[in-house]
Amino acid sequence: EKAGFEHFMMKEIHEQPKAVQDTLSSVVKDGQIDLSEIGLTDENIQDIDQIYIIACGSAYHVGMAAQYVFEDMVRVPVRVELASEFRYRNPILNPKALAIIISQSGETADSLAALRLCKENNIRTLGIVNVVGSSIAREADNVFYTLAGPEISVATTKAYSTQLIAAYVLAIQFAKVKGTISEEQYAAYIKELETLPDKIQRIIDDKERIQWFASKQANAKDVFFIGRGIDYAICLEGSLKMKEISYIHSEAYAAGELKHGTISLIEDGTLVIGVLTQPALYEKTVSNMVECRSRGAYLMGLTTFGNYNIEDTADFTVYMPKTDPHFATSLAVIPLQLLGYYVSVAKGLDVDKPRNLAKSVTVE
Ligand code: F6R
Repeated sequence: EKAGFEHFMMKEIHEQPKAVQDTLSSVVKDGQIDLSEIGLTDENIQDIDQIYIIACGSAYHVGMAAQYVFEDMVRVPVRVELASEFRYRNPILNPKALAIIISQSGETADSLAALRLCKENNIRTLGIVNVVGSSIAREADNVFYTLAGPEISVATTKAYSTQLIAAYVLAIQFAKVKGTISEEQYAAYIKELETLPDKIQRIIDDKERIQWFASKQANAKDVFFIGRGIDYAICLEGSLKMKEISYIHSEAYAAGELKHGTISLIEDGTLVIGVLTQPALYEKTVSNMVECRSRGAYLMGLTTFGNYNIEDTADFTVYMPKTDPHFATSLAVIPLQLLGYYVSVAKGLDVDKPRNLAKSVTVE
């Protein structure tokens, strides 16, 4: 049932191009997004003047990336909330807000409680859910099913990738309905989304290079992931993948925050991974990487083909295909999933069932 792969996680990493394609095809027909199955009308969308995205773990990291995409495309304010924080803080809720609850299992206790809290306050709820008929899917006003198929490995990969697609599609459609993007831009975004499965595949095809790097880093004690904007959201997920399956202490830092504390932890040989997919922020993050290097850090860069001057700074670089910067998370996360996976394998750990973790967290 692992289809020839050693672990479910690797099988599921390889299933991402198809999972992304299937999720896209379910809502994009002839170059147009169709949300009728989800039950969101243009009128509903016009009414929304704020978005809350509520989730746990990796699904929360999807929310962090989605926040940038929604705010930039749709120009409505977005708050991203950890479900376990949101539900206990007596939130001030805007009646014209849409609450998006993201959950692979649809059973995460805190996410479900947050959904119920929104419903009690008459806030429209939309679930982005993978498991059909799960509690969140049943209780949300609207459901966007991700078509990742069953995910067995505790560390999420393909569900995460399809959740991103759901968020992009919603943002593009909201932007169209609200008139914040042109018809040409709309068409261009959809066209670009359709190239993602193939680009993800190309990154997976290059996995041996990550495997080699991972084997060299298996003894690392600490890893720092740094980036700005969407790249910070990518860092959060890369760092979680590293710690949950490799048991290496890791932290994600907004690169500009380094000098407000964390840089004191950088010493000779500390591994720092810079994520640089956003052209507008590239130079800023490079300069933070230079600061780390001057304190002895060993640097990996993750950036787009063409940014070859990163090699003046980074000791090891992974390049990914170009895409629209809004969608870069979908590509940049792949090498980071592979890195966590290969470090775990190099350390001989139980990749699919990391200690102390369960696939679905139904306790609070
Ligand atoms: C990490 C991981 C978890 C889940 C989190 C939420 O790899 O899988 O952080 O993302 O437990 O689970 P769902 O999406 O089922 O609500």
